[in-house]
Amino acid sequence: MNRFVVRSVMQGLINGRSYCRSSISNGQVYGAAIAGRSMQICCQQNGVIFSGFEWRRMMSSAPPSMEKAPSEKEEKKNNSATEEKKGKELSLSSYWGISRPKITREDGTDWPWNCFMPWETYRADLSIDLKKHHVPKNFVDKFAYRTVKLLRIPVDLFFQKRYGCHAMMLETVAAVPGMVAGMLLHLRSLRKFQQSGGWIKALLEEAENERMHLMTMVELVKPKWYERLLVLAVQGVYFNAFFVLYVLSPKLAHRFVGYLEEEAIHSYTEYLKGIERGGVENVPAPAIAIDYWRLPKDATLKDVITVIRADEAHHRDVNHFASDIQFQGKELRDAPAPLGYR
Ligand SMILES: [Fe+2]
Ligand SMILES: [Fe+2]
Repeated sequence: MNRFVVRSVMQGLINGRSYCRSSISNGQVYGAAIAGRSMQICCQQNGVIFSGFEWRRMMSSAPPSMEKAPSEKEEKKNNSATEEKKGKELSLSSYWGISRPKITREDGTDWPWNCFMPWETYRADLSIDLKKHHVPKNFVDKFAYRTVKLLRIPVDLFFQKRYGCHAMMLETVAAVPGMVAGMLLHLRSLRKFQQSGGWIKALLEEAENERMHLMTMVELVKPKWYERLLVLAVQGVYFNAFFVLYVLSPKLAHRFVGYLEEEAIHSYTEYLKGIERGGVENVPAPAIAIDYWRLPKDATLKDVITVIRADEAHHRDVNHFASDIQFQGKELRDAPAPLGYR
């Protein structure tokens, strides 16, 4: 079994498809629609049948009804009847009493996402000042600033004008610090029997928001196999490096992320310029972006990049603020956590 899973993951990496997804609805658990191939695992335990997980297009966040990869469209049409039948076969009564209530959009249509809910969506604050910059004042600031500027050189050389690809890879990195910092503050709260002042939630919110940026970008850009490998390598290094950095110096870690966010604003501004110049086609916004940022139905890529850039500006403020608190000799929990600041 383990050998099969490892082989499937490797094949998924090579073929650009894998992902296990299941959804729960009306007291029934069923496997999501798939593209390409599927696998069903059934087992019986204590009289309860657990069934079904299926492989799905890698990193796709589109709901079953919104799959739109051109190469898979044809295949999906042909297989839709079979999939529907298979879905019914996979369904079972939930022994645990877990069910998803009927969730609808404001206009009464069914909510198609399981990865986020309507109450987690928002309208980005586009009035935020994009030009704010923390002028490096001391050694820690200068070290963080120069490290970020140095890292930017190879990244720019690698991606050049491939804005979409650049943004997608950037988001795989950007979603790490909030999770690491939130996790470490969580452990600290447990160790010290202290409240976090809301900072755990605020930082995890940031990580989730960055991950949604990535889920949006993968609907627009399909990562190549070597980019997937690059993400694996970078994540391995970056997660561990940031973990150590945060343990040693949270104020440096937050300052570093603050400058990374300043660079992200710059990158998305370049992306927008590319769209305005006509170098990048202003395609319709992915469905996930329209629902997540409550964009109009006719929103385009330009609208999506504009709201993502506004998010990055909020992350910049949160991280520079966190660093400033610690430079003043205080702990994060001494200051109000920027919950819902976006
Ligand atoms: Fe982001
Ligand atoms: Fe960000």
